[in-house]
Amino acid sequence: MAKTSTPASKRTKSAAKPTSKSAPKAATKTKVLPKPASQDVPMPVVAKATESSALALPITVSFKDIETARDAIRRYVYETPCAASERLSNMTGCKLSLKLENLQMTGSYKERGSLNKILRLSDKERKAGVIAASAGNHAQGVAYAAQRNGIKATIVMPETTPLAKVRGTQEFNAEVILHGSSYDDAFARAMELQREHGYSFIHAFDDPLIIAGQGTVGLELLEQNPYLDAVVVPIGGGGLIAGIAIAMKEINPKIRIIGVEAEQVPSMKASVAAGKITEVERASTIADGIAVAKVGKHTFPIVQKYIDEIVTVNEEEIANAIMVLLEREKTLVEGSGAAGFAAVYNHKISGIDGKRVAVVVTGGNIDITILAKILERGLAKDGRLASLKIIVPDKPGSIAEIAAIVAKHRANVLNIAHDRVFTAASLRETEVEFLLETKGKHHVQEIVRDIAKHNFHVKLEKPA
Ligand SMILES: Cc1ncc(COP(=O)(O)O)c(C=O)c1O
Repeated sequence: MAKTSTPASKRTKSAAKPTSKSAPKAATKTKVLPKPASQDVPMPVVAKATESSALALPITVSFKDIETARDAIRRYVYETPCAASERLSNMTGCKLSLKLENLQMTGSYKERGSLNKILRLSDKERKAGVIAASAGNHAQGVAYAAQRNGIKATIVMPETTPLAKVRGTQEFNAEVILHGSSYDDAFARAMELQREHGYSFIHAFDDPLIIAGQGTVGLELLEQNPYLDAVVVPIGGGGLIAGIAIAMKEINPKIRIIGVEAEQVPSMKASVAAGKITEVERASTIADGIAVAKVGKHTFPIVQKYIDEIVTVNEEEIANAIMVLLEREKTLVEGSGAAGFAAVYNHKISGIDGKRVAVVVTGGNIDITILAKILERGLAKDGRLASLKIIVPDKPGSIAEIAAIVAKHRANVLNIAHDRVFTAASLRETEVEFLLETKGKHHVQEIVRDIAKHNFHVKLEKPA
């Protein structure tokens, strides 16, 4: 199927600044751009809106703000590679590169915005310290930015936050306060503490300085790959896509910017369709970073103006994307970070066949236990892990006979379990479960057929 891809370590970054005369030039001042034709395509409402609220603001971020942010944060952030992948290009049908923000110091792009915000605090504000509410990457972004600037950071996280994320935040010297069972509880507590201690609140997405900081990803993309046709970006509250859109469309209005949301929480898609900020029902998803029920007042008008298309991906598509990126590309990505690739891989985006497309791989902070489950289920769906339940006579030699058939087909036995009680087998029989490592669905079918041919009742278990 796919040709051999260039190993990550050997890939070169794409050329810097545009060289050809026809390449788009950097804008020198902010200008209002015509709306690209594709923006006129209406977006269907897919969410059951529960509440519409909050009027959006006028656009509060300019191209110049993003350039200023880049100068400010340059020495603290890594200019992540935008790696072309021949293998994923062959698999998806477009010329695909991955902007690897999972390689950032905190494992996601989040420190860009936090640094830009924190670097603009007054001396008095720096002395008082900063506070944020987060269950994930924003916590580490704020903690890292504060630590690098000698500022005290307090992060309020829900009590349910995985230990790895709590520790990751503490490692950057932040004080972590665990409070409540949801992000909303943590947010409310953070606001109380902010009032009590005079801390500066660092919002995860809805702040012009945060948006400008995240937009520096867009400036890097333009330099690394000046001839891009489209950029695919996951959307949570919209801070990242808003910043990227301003940075890129101000220079080249023809670049299509496509947003991707989790099917469970499509708040931006619903808001754009309704023409106003529209809150959707909260739901849990493996893309927890983008599970934002209500988008921002600052981010929404930018998305409304600049974004060409918003698509959604479901849980299975996200999980599969995580597995493909890891197995084929050797890139470890969390659910939200894989959403963009999931959309391309599942052909959710119109008109990108054969085009130069960059997917922003936004983060890699995945819980190892979740990763293990995703991989096991992925292998099971592929048929590379198979569970066979076989009814055999309850007498010596029965299991050996099955094992011999399995061995003949050169499959590997991972586990054998016996059940004499909770089974439909008769008293003279027993049910044996073989967990096998195989070469795929076809291989499993061959083994099942052969076992049945030997007069055993065999059932292939379906993965969840
Ligand atoms: C890995 C990852 N990707 C994407 C997003 C979405 O970013 P935004 O809220 O700026 O739209 C987040 C937000 O936390 C994230 O952690």
